[in-house]
Amino acid sequence: MVFRDKQVVLGVTGGIAAYKAVEVLRLLVKAGAEVHVVMTRNAMEFVAPLTFQTLSGNPVHTELFSLVQERDIGHISLADRADLVLIAPATANVVGKAANGLADDLLTTTLLATKAPVLFVPAMNVNMWENPLYQENQARLEKHGYHFMTPVSGDLACGWEGQGKLPDPADIFDYAQDFIGSRDLAGRTILVTAGPTREEMDPVRFLSNHSSGKMGYAIARAARNRGARVILVSGPVQLSPPQKVDFVKVTTALEMLEAVLSRSSGADAIVKAAAVADYRPARREHLKVKKGDASEGSISLQRNPDILAELGKLKGDRVLIGFAAETNDLLVNAGKKLAEKNLDMIVANDVSMPGAGFDSDTNVVQFLHRNGQVEKLPEMSKSEVADLLVDRIVDLLAK
Ligand code: PMT
Repeated sequence: MVFRDKQVVLGVTGGIAAYKAVEVLRLLVKAGAEVHVVMTRNAMEFVAPLTFQTLSGNPVHTELFSLVQERDIGHISLADRADLVLIAPATANVVGKAANGLADDLLTTTLLATKAPVLFVPAMNVNMWENPLYQENQARLEKHGYHFMTPVSGDLACGWEGQGKLPDPADIFDYAQDFIGSRDLAGRTILVTAGPTREEMDPVRFLSNHSSGKMGYAIARAARNRGARVILVSGPVQLSPPQKVDFVKVTTALEMLEAVLSRSSGADAIVKAAAVADYRPARREHLKVKKGDASEGSISLQRNPDILAELGKLKGDRVLIGFAAETNDLLVNAGKKLAEKNLDMIVANDVSMPGAGFDSDTNVVQFLHRNGQVEKLPEMSKSEVADLLVDRIVDLLAK
C-alpha cells in the first residue's frame, strides 16, 4: 500500500466540489494514509468539519490562530510532517494566493511553509478556469515545481458547461499516489499488457475470456508509482486507464502483437499479464451469421501468434515477465512456459482457486524464477501482488 504510514495534508477550499473531498479522504484513509484535513473558512460553508474529522480520525484544522489547535499541532508542524499536500478542490482564490506567496490563513501558510510535493486539483467555473489571470497563476506555480491535475469537462454546478469539474475522487487518489514512495524505477520504461483480447467471428459475436484487466492495471500503477514511464497496452475492459500512463487500447491479439512489438525496443521491462486468445475465428464474416449458416455449429479457428514467445526471441537484456493462468499442474505448466518463452520470471496463477484469477480483487500466485527459485505468496490484493512484482523488476534490472 503506497500510502501506508504516509502523512497527507488534505486542503479543502470553498467550492461546491468540496463534498467530493470526503470521498478522496476515504480512499486515502483506506489506503493507510494518516490524513490531516485543513479547511478554509469558505469550505466550511459547503461541508461540516465533523464529516472530515470522523473519517480521518484526526481533528480538522481550520484556524491559523487557534490556541487549542496550535497546542495540539503547530501550524508549521503540519507543513513539516506532510509527505504530500493535496488541495482538492482548489479554488481560483487559493491558487491565486499561493502563486503570490500570500499566507493569510492556515492552508496558505502550510502551502508556503511545506517542502513536500503539493498537488492542486482545481475546480471552478469554466470562465474562471480560462481566465488568463488564473492560467498565469497556475503556470507560475508549475514553474516553481507545484503540480496540477486538469479539471474535466461537463455540466458545471454554476449552470455552465465546459472545463472546470473536479475529476473523480478515484482518479485524484490514483494521480496522488505517484507523489509518494520510492522512485527506484525513475528513468526506466515498463511496458505492461492487461485484459483479454476479443476475436470477432461476425459483427455481433466474438471469442474472449474473463480477464477484467485488474491485475495488469495494478502492475501499471505500481510501476508508475515507483517513477517509471509506463506503457499500458490493454484489451477491452471496464476500467478507467490509470492516470499518467501511456495508454494504448487494442482489441485483438494481432493488434496487441503490433502494439507491443512496435514499443518493445524502448522498454527496460515487459510484463505480460494480458490473457491473449490463443485462437481467432479463421474467417470474420461481414454479416451476422444466421442459424444454419455455419456448418453444424462448428467454427474453424486459426492460431494467434504468441506475443510473449516473440518477445522472448528478441529478449536481449530486457527483463521479461509472463503470467501463466492454469487450472491444473500449476508449477509444471508455468515452468514450461518460463523456459519455452525465454522469461526471467513467470507468475503462476491457479485461476481455479477462490480469491484468485479473473476479475477478483485479490490473487494467489507464485513467482517462478529462471534459476528455479519459487516464491509462494499468500492471498493478497492485486495491488499488493503488483508491488511485489515491481520489487522483483527492480532487482532484475539491477543485475
Ligand atoms: O485481468 P484479471 O481479471 O485481473 O485477471 C488476471 C489474470 C488471471 C488474467 C492474470 O493473472 C493472468 O494469469 N494472466 C495471464 C493469462 C494467460 O493468458 O495465461 P497463459 O498461460 O495462456 O499465457 C502465458 C503467457 O503468455 C501470458 O503472459 C500471456 O500474456 C502470454 N501469451 C499467451 C498467448 C498468446 N497468444 N500470446 C501471449 O503473449
